[in-house]
Amino acid sequence: MRKLATVVLAAGQGKRMKSSKAKVLHLLAGRPMLHYPLNAARETGSQKIVVVTGYQQEQVRKTFSDTDIVYALQNRQLGTGDAVMSAREALADFNGDTLLLCGDIPLIKGSTLKKLINFHREEENSVTVLTTRKNNPAGYGRIVRDEKGTIQKIVEEKDASPQEKKISEVNSGIYCFDSTFLFKALDSISHHNAQNEYYLTDTIAIAREQKNKAGFLLVPDETEVMGINNRIELARADGEIRKQILERLMLRGVTIIDPQNTYLDLDVQVGKDTAIYPHTFLTGNTKIGEDCLIESGCQISESKIGSHVTIRCNSVINGSVIRDRATIGPFAHIRPASDIGEEVRVGNFVEVKKTSIGKKSKAAHLSYLGDTTIGSEVNIGAGTITCNYDGVKKHPTVIEDNAFIGSNTELVAPVKIGQGSLIGAGSTITRDVPPDSLTVGRAKQVNLKKKPNLTPPGKS
Ligand code: UD1
Ligand code: CA
Repeated sequence: MRKLATVVLAAGQGKRMKSSKAKVLHLLAGRPMLHYPLNAARETGSQKIVVVTGYQQEQVRKTFSDTDIVYALQNRQLGTGDAVMSAREALADFNGDTLLLCGDIPLIKGSTLKKLINFHREEENSVTVLTTRKNNPAGYGRIVRDEKGTIQKIVEEKDASPQEKKISEVNSGIYCFDSTFLFKALDSISHHNAQNEYYLTDTIAIAREQKNKAGFLLVPDETEVMGINNRIELARADGEIRKQILERLMLRGVTIIDPQNTYLDLDVQVGKDTAIYPHTFLTGNTKIGEDCLIESGCQISESKIGSHVTIRCNSVINGSVIRDRATIGPFAHIRPASDIGEEVRVGNFVEVKKTSIGKKSKAAHLSYLGDTTIGSEVNIGAGTITCNYDGVKKHPTVIEDNAFIGSNTELVAPVKIGQGSLIGAGSTITRDVPPDSLTVGRAKQVNLKKKPNLTPPGKS
């Protein structure tokens, strides 16, 4: 078996993005663009992956620090041909085929790359280019063939004659090369063209001149090889990837009410019989169990949701765990490092931060629970607030099993409420409460006899 290496071009700035961030770092379904061609390359079983960086190379290297990647540096962006030359050293002792990918062509599938490699080898080509037909070929290099249909050369848009501009078959920017041919051909390319750049595309004409075999493989679906050059194309590719994510999940038994208005990142996992309502964003490394209901307008990121969980509309959950059969929301805010236990109910306008809530406990309305450890079967009355911050430091609150916290209670941390205790509504608790106590910490009500003709306050 011949060896296979991959070179991914990612040195360009992507001027047409009008961004201070390198193009390949822009996100598609929550992952930087470059992730996608790298992943497709891995599916081919490529033994070596060389990424050519230049613009913001440190950020690119930091973002993709995977150990299977070797980096090459292109100091100045002198064109795609020059970019490949920068990989020469990294491939000095390599003999075999080189798959050439671009960091800005993210929708390419591993299966198509495998077809390209097999075809290239069967045909014993020196270079095989992946092409497609486009309704609007503007901006792409055109594939020029002779009368027999053999590929002659690739002409860039800016160098093309009016006749050549009419060609609808274009260069995808993806190729398979015989490595020895590639680097020899690159030695003879020049920058005498409209853009003053070293074009990798010139290797096709060079192959023809040197009587080496050049071929092409046509991809029927032009979307798969679309290049991302501006934000319009970025949005289009993002939509396409998200559509694929949702279709994969629907085929695995997840109900998506309105796929056009549901947004899931690449790494999100969802179990079967879970239903997701529109305008929901599930992002980052989020995992949802089976038979859950995620109502509309929810944002869940970096969280693990168990099975049979209901997340009611407009709830925000971040960096937390929600266990089986819990109910959250509507309008709940679960902030990082929270752990919501089985069968717990967190209701409307409840904010929870760095707090664990034990099995079957309830905080049904209007509360703030921060830095708190709550046992099981606890009832947190409406309006309960943990005063966890003294202006300098955060302090913990502990509420043990079966405690009942009356409505509108303030728990001034650090404080501990013992098991089975009952706190009267409206209390301000500043000291620990022993187990099984009845504690009331509020001003005593006084009822006085009203004087005749006393004007009530506020009325004159
Ligand atoms: C390129 C092709 C064009 C093809 C199109 C497909 C050339 C000359 N043209 O045009 O035929 O139809 O892709 O999308 O190859 N890059 C570097 N260093 C450089 C220049 C570019 O690393 O000096 C990288 C870019 O980061 C990018 C890729 O190469 O990932 C393609 O470069 P880009 O400038 O986008 O080329 P296109 O004009 O799209
Ligand atoms: Ca491009």
